[in-house]
Amino acid sequence: KENANTITINVAEAKDTINKNIYGHFSEHLGRCIYDGLYIGDSNTTIPNKNGIRLDVLAALKKMKVPVLRWPGGCFADTYHWKDGVGPKANRPSMLNVWWGNTKEDNSFGTNEFLNLCEELGAEAYLSGNVGSGTPGELSDWIKYTTHPNGSSPMTDLRQASGRTIPWKVGFWGLGNEAWGCGGNMTAEHYANIYRQYATFMTDWNNSDKLYRIASGASDDDYHWTEVLMKNLPASMFDALGLHHYSVIDWGKKGPATNFSEKEYFITMQRALLMEELITKHSAVMDKYDPEKKKALAVDEWGGWYEVEPGTNPAFLYQQNTMRDAMIAGSNLNIFNNHADRVKMANLAQIINVLQAVILTEGEKMILTPTYHVMEMYNVHHDALMLPLQVTSQDYVHEKESLKAINASASKDKDGVTHISLVNIDPNKEHSITINVNGASYKTVSGRILRSAKMQDYNSFENPGKISPAEFKDASLSGNSLTVKLPPTSVVVLALK
Ligand code: AHR
Repeated sequence: KENANTITINVAEAKDTINKNIYGHFSEHLGRCIYDGLYIGDSNTTIPNKNGIRLDVLAALKKMKVPVLRWPGGCFADTYHWKDGVGPKANRPSMLNVWWGNTKEDNSFGTNEFLNLCEELGAEAYLSGNVGSGTPGELSDWIKYTTHPNGSSPMTDLRQASGRTIPWKVGFWGLGNEAWGCGGNMTAEHYANIYRQYATFMTDWNNSDKLYRIASGASDDDYHWTEVLMKNLPASMFDALGLHHYSVIDWGKKGPATNFSEKEYFITMQRALLMEELITKHSAVMDKYDPEKKKALAVDEWGGWYEVEPGTNPAFLYQQNTMRDAMIAGSNLNIFNNHADRVKMANLAQIINVLQAVILTEGEKMILTPTYHVMEMYNVHHDALMLPLQVTSQDYVHEKESLKAINASASKDKDGVTHISLVNIDPNKEHSITINVNGASYKTVSGRILRSAKMQDYNSFENPGKISPAEFKDASLSGNSLTVKLPPTSVVVLALK
């Protein structure tokens, strides 16, 4: 007989804060992410906007909360020369976006537009520097342009001439992207040397804000990459290593985003749940050099990746978003929360109209995807104290292979409210769970649930409200013990007071 599903939460063991930047996003000059997504320009449009940013998109992102936004790539970052994107728009040169369909990039959305957007959203900016085809001088100039005090260099004069008098705050600087691939096809050893060269010139000089520098990290299970960087980068020169992991079935045959089989679903979830092993093993490598965990792991690209929607440009990576994506999001965010001691940032790829987007647009229409709703439901974990837990889960079995049906994470916010996020990835079975919280006692429980009749369901432009969070009533509380019933492929967030 299978064991029952149980979760034990140990309040006394809590010590780590869930960095809100785990709930970060990523926006690349790719397909319709920037142009016709975040930015529609400020002329020739009837869509309500503020400085070219759609008002409906702005409002939705503010409600979901975007703590940090990475830009301008991705692969695009290592082809981008930031000076092409500042100054009067009429004078900005155009370029070809060689990674993403050879489309014309007119540079109308550049540094000022991006950093102003971050300010509007209340998000920290994560600028990905061009290491693959740029120069250390160019990157150092970008730092001066964006963050140095007025009058301190020709770069700050340039900023003032652009109409921006005071510096912006740039929370994070990336030194290249996927240096092992589109960022230069470098070996780890070569990149480590290049990193040191760039980092030398990427300092604050006499500016008091310390720069937070993130090295281009490993792909999936490339532990050698992490090892070489940890060994060869001086501790004073970096703050975090990246990690990229996509939940993709097979790079050669990714399968459809909506009309997928249970087999395809199962494999996608295998890939998604692999995140636990990847973080554990990359962290173990980092522990050897940094046992005090001063250096962070930033999972700065993650999410589901499928075939594009039929009839759309294959280079634009535009895909629909179903309850399968809600399962990926809920499960990966639980994994990041549970590794709050090492994972300090993660950036879902990508924020709008590309890959596992939280928002899709079509002309004047906009839809919030199931992934959006998970991100919004989980925002109660931002900067909360992570409560360690143990999960004993029944199996979700498919064709003799199995995965754990249930995953979870928990935290206590600054008002003393405990939140537990639960995912049942099993598409065929409701799961009952007994939750015990050691070291606390509660009077009330309330909750929200995201579910739909089928895991292939999605919000469409014709039916945008098909999937949205509802009140959850299947939790009963007695002191510090709870019983919860999770329907198939559902995400639930409980609040205990
Ligand atoms: O997110 C799409 C692409 O995936 C990014 O540009 C790149 O970094 C990764 O390979």
